[in-house]
Amino acid sequence: MISHNQPFIDSKDLAAVQSVLQGRWIAEGKWARKFEKAISKYLHQKYAQCTSSGTAALHLALLALKIKKGDEVICSTYACTALLNALHYVGAKPVLADIDGKTLGLSPVTVKKRISRKTKAILVHHAFGIPADIQKIQALGIPVIEDIAQALGSRRGSRPLGSFGDLTICSFFATKMIATGYGGMILTKNRAWGEKIRDLCQYDRRRDYKVRYNYALSDIHAALGMSQFQKLTKFVARRRQIAARYLRALAQNSSIQTWIGRKGDKPNFYRFILAGRRKYAHDVNYFKRKGIQAISPIEPYQLLHRYLGLNPRNFPVAEAVAQYVVSVPIYPAMSQNQIRKVCQALQNLPVPGPSCTPGVVS
Ligand SMILES: Cc1ncc(COP(=O)(O)O)c(C=O)c1O
Repeated sequence: MISHNQPFIDSKDLAAVQSVLQGRWIAEGKWARKFEKAISKYLHQKYAQCTSSGTAALHLALLALKIKKGDEVICSTYACTALLNALHYVGAKPVLADIDGKTLGLSPVTVKKRISRKTKAILVHHAFGIPADIQKIQALGIPVIEDIAQALGSRRGSRPLGSFGDLTICSFFATKMIATGYGGMILTKNRAWGEKIRDLCQYDRRRDYKVRYNYALSDIHAALGMSQFQKLTKFVARRRQIAARYLRALAQNSSIQTWIGRKGDKPNFYRFILAGRRKYAHDVNYFKRKGIQAISPIEPYQLLHRYLGLNPRNFPVAEAVAQYVVSVPIYPAMSQNQIRKVCQALQNLPVPGPSCTPGVVS
């Protein structure tokens, strides 16, 4: 079975981890600082702090913005539950919004309708690495936390995603563009926020007492992160090559919908997602029979509005997307043979009759 995801680990990664272990300084240290410098330069940011996860980075972003009980934060319903968890850590009220069918990210029109006097931030994540309409959302004048957990390496025009947010967070979880097992980073151009985040991230040997966190990243992870980051450009190029082959394989099948971003966007193809005329389970089973692990990236029950018991009718685009979208394997560690196998399966993807539901987003 071709697995849906797999990290690319080479001898340089192994050597990086080994050198930290041999040096005996395995907590946060010089590798964390190097990693922060490299990512902040890449994302045109100024202050950076490695964290133990993307969720920890989200939590710190909310703390930097002083978001507290009763404050409202707008976020997409078509997102990982980590977003909801971080909002609940600080007692904020998640105000969920439907997505734009073209980007699968927050719709600026829907966001505008959700703004109230209590809105303190908008959490914008780029689903599957496809750039959301972040500039239009920023124009609404509310602080934006940009979540590039899935979007490291994507670009909007000449700018990298992650360079837009007032605060930006990354994840280096095992399945992400660069993987350290667990890990994350938070970045900003704002000095006061940068200093506050560094202060909150560790608790030891402080003159004053306040609640602080143990959110730092070990040098073992950071050295691996640096080694992975040095391959990011190649990783993205390889993913784009594979995506181009998948798109060619689907070219004759006009009933299959794919997402490649809008004009000027250069997605990283963290995921290659498609939607046919039938519900995802049919396609997942079809790929399984071909020896390919395809998944529904967010199943309907995982939609954040469903977790919160809100009416699905108020989130029609996310509901439709969750019913139909399938994600097929795409990652740099795939062999030529595996890529060929997925291409063949895509080429032969069954097309149901016109009585079935047409494309997700028309
Ligand atoms: C968009 C998004 N944000 C945040 C996170 C949380 O990152 P982590 O798993 O590193 O805590 C994830 C996790 O997959 C994610 O997909």
